[in-house]
Amino acid sequence: MAREGEVVCVTGGSGCIGSWLVRLLLDRGYSVHATVQDLKDESETKHLEALEGAEARLRLFQIDLLNYASILTAVSGCAGVFHLASPCIVDEVLEPEKQLLDPAIKGTLNVLTAAKEAGVSRVVVTSSISAIIPSPNWPADIVKSEDCWTDIEYCKQKGLWYSLSKTLAEKAAWDFAKEKGLDVVVVNPGTVMGPVIPPRLNASMLMLVRILQGCTETYENFFMGSVHFKDVALAHILVYENKSASGRHLCVEAISHYGDFVAKVAEIYPEYEVKRLPKDTQPELLRTKDGSKKLMDLGLQFIPMEQIIKEAVESLKSRGFIS
Ligand SMILES: NC(=O)c1ccc[n+]([C@@H]2O[C@H](COP(=O)([O-])OP(=O)(O)OC[C@H]3O[C@@H](n4cnc5c(N)ncnc54)[C@H](OP(=O)(O)O)[C@@H]3O)[C@@H](O)[C@H]2O)c1
Repeated sequence: MAREGEVVCVTGGSGCIGSWLVRLLLDRGYSVHATVQDLKDESETKHLEALEGAEARLRLFQIDLLNYASILTAVSGCAGVFHLASPCIVDEVLEPEKQLLDPAIKGTLNVLTAAKEAGVSRVVVTSSISAIIPSPNWPADIVKSEDCWTDIEYCKQKGLWYSLSKTLAEKAAWDFAKEKGLDVVVVNPGTVMGPVIPPRLNASMLMLVRILQGCTETYENFFMGSVHFKDVALAHILVYENKSASGRHLCVEAISHYGDFVAKVAEIYPEYEVKRLPKDTQPELLRTKDGSKKLMDLGLQFIPMEQIIKEAVESLKSRGFIS
């Protein structure tokens, strides 16, 4: 149940998913502490301050994931915390520890420690499908689900540092929850897209821009299905408000292949030079409509892929990110 006036913190509130979550929380009557990395940078703050309800019920806090004191200040006085802040770099990573692993893993532990110290009642951690795949040893005849975990050694060998950062951060969160008795619940979103609120694009929207520009990069290791920004934000709120929600929650409109997604973009937008891919880009990934059954059972009705693509592309056009 939405609790009018309840104070919650959203780390990474300035980001593409974070902004949608802040918007929906404000719409539901919550008071929100949203964190940004630089309060003086208007590209992180202005779009949040412009949200309906922000003037009365939004407070912005500057945090660094490696600075415990800054995080404790942001979560103090909050009943709940949504931990989204984490670097998202899927291109070349020169210093994995510094760029990805430390902020993801130590940052998550800092947020959970601060939440425990501040007496927060529930923390929703934003993990990823990157903590579910790549998982090459998963049985070929079983649909991948919340029971499936990314293969850590495989990621190290292939230099998949983002996947490693999300997997180790989620594992650290579960260990912390068990050891310290903190109520933690996790959302594992697929590739998140839709209308963009901030003035900057996140990695998944940049992926869509590259597809529209005719790039043939493959994101198989990073793709398990798409999901609308709004649905990811709703999923966070549902698992926060529903005390019976527990464990991990795969959050995709359907489990699909990267090639399926590219083909759908090509079909809807023939005016762009989208390069179609082979039919089965991820032969080891079994497709299913109800991969996110746990969230559907909580009442989430997912926006389908076609509408996600249309709303995302129209937003890219209207905001001038593509012509
Ligand atoms: N996009 C997807 O498809 C997808 C899929 C699955 C999971 N996720 C997860 O969803 C979360 C949000 O991602 P997003 O797509 O919204 O990305 P985004 O737009 O790049 O947002 C990332 C957020 O994290 C903050 N952040 C990054 N490093 C930080 C640090 N060292 N200290 C404090 N804050 C830091 C950023 O702050 P600034 O704005 O100040 O830089 C920003 O608010 C991440 O945990 C990501 O792994 C994303």
